[in-house]
Amino acid sequence: MSDPLAIGVLGGGLMGSGIAEVCARAGHDVLLVEADASARDGGRDRVAASVSRAVERGKLTSSEAQQVLGRIRVGLDLDACADRDLVVEAVTEREDVKATVLARVDKVLADEALLASNTSSLPIMRLAAATSRPDRVIGLHFFNPVPVMPVVEVVTALTTSNDTLSRAEAFVRDSLGKHVVRASDRAGFVVNAMLVPYLLSAVRMLESGYATARDIDEGMRLGCGHPMGPLALCDLIGLDTVQAIAESMYAEYKEPLYAPPPLLQRMTDAGLLGRKSGRGFHPSPAAA
Ligand code: CAA
Repeated sequence: MSDPLAIGVLGGGLMGSGIAEVCARAGHDVLLVEADASARDGGRDRVAASVSRAVERGKLTSSEAQQVLGRIRVGLDLDACADRDLVVEAVTEREDVKATVLARVDKVLADEALLASNTSSLPIMRLAAATSRPDRVIGLHFFNPVPVMPVVEVVTALTTSNDTLSRAEAFVRDSLGKHVVRASDRAGFVVNAMLVPYLLSAVRMLESGYATARDIDEGMRLGCGHPMGPLALCDLIGLDTVQAIAESMYAEYKEPLYAPPPLLQRMTDAGLLGRKSGRGFHPSPAAA
C-alpha cells in the first residue's frame, strides 16, 4: 500500500472519530461512514473538537488542523467505500452489527483491499468469516483517546495471511507512527484481558460499599501512579462499551472475573454511560 491511502472508517463514535483523525493526521484521505443522518455530524464534530484541543496543546498548528479536517469526508453510504485501500470498522461492539457492515463493505471493495475491525473483544475469526476475504481481514485495536495513546493491538485470525499482517503492521507503525502489539485472537487480546478484570473489580468494590468512587480512583491514581483511576477510566471508555467487552470475555472464558457486575448493567440501562452521556461514576464537565 503506498501513501497516501484511501481509508474508510465505519462509525464516527469515540473510537471511529479518533481513528479517522489519526489517519487524516498521517496524510491519508478518509471517508467516515456514519450509520444514519442523525449521526451525520457527530463524528466530524468530535474530530473538530479533538484537533482544536491538539492546537491548544501545541501539537498541531491551526493550518494543519484545517488540513486534517479537509482530508475527512463524511458519508452515509457503505457502497462509497468501493475505492478504499483499507476499511476500519468501528461500529458498536455487537457481533451481529459488525458482521453485517463488514459483509456489506466486502462486496464493494477491490480484491486487494484490506478490512480491519477495531473490536475490543469479539473474535476476529467470526468477523472474517462474514466476508469473502478472510485472508485479508485483521484486527486493529486502537486505544482511547486514539490521537494520544501510542499503541495498536494487531490481531490475526486463523485465516489472516502473512501479507495482510505485514501490510497492516507497516500501516500502523510507519504511517500512523504507533507501536504495534501483536495479539492472538482471544477475547480481550492482550490489554483488555488484564484491564477489564481490574475495571470490573473496581465496580464490584463500589457496589459492595467497600469504598467510595473517589477513594477507589484516588487510591489507584496516587498509590500506583496511574493517569486516572479505574472508575474514571470506565467513564472515559463508556460504561456500555465496558459492559459489552465484559460480556464477550465472559462468553469466551466463562470465568467469574469477567462477569459484568449488576451495578454496571443498571448504570448502562439508566443511560449513565460516562463522559459521552455527561455522567457515569463521576459527573463529567461536558459530554464529549
Ligand atoms: N491530540 C493530540 N494530543 C493530545 C490531544 C489531542 N486531541 N489531547 C491531548 N493531547 C496530548 C497532550 O498534548 C498531552 O501531551 P504531552 O504530555 O506531550 O504534553 C497528553 O496528550 C495528555 O493530555 P492532557 O494533559 O490534556 O490530559 P491529561 O494529562 O489529563 O491526560 C489522558 C488525559 C491522556 C486521557 C490520561 O488521563 C490517560 O492516559 N488516561 C488513561 C487512558 C487509557 O487508559 N486509555 C485506554 C483505555 S482502554 C481502551 O481504549 C481499549 C478498550 O478496548 C476499552
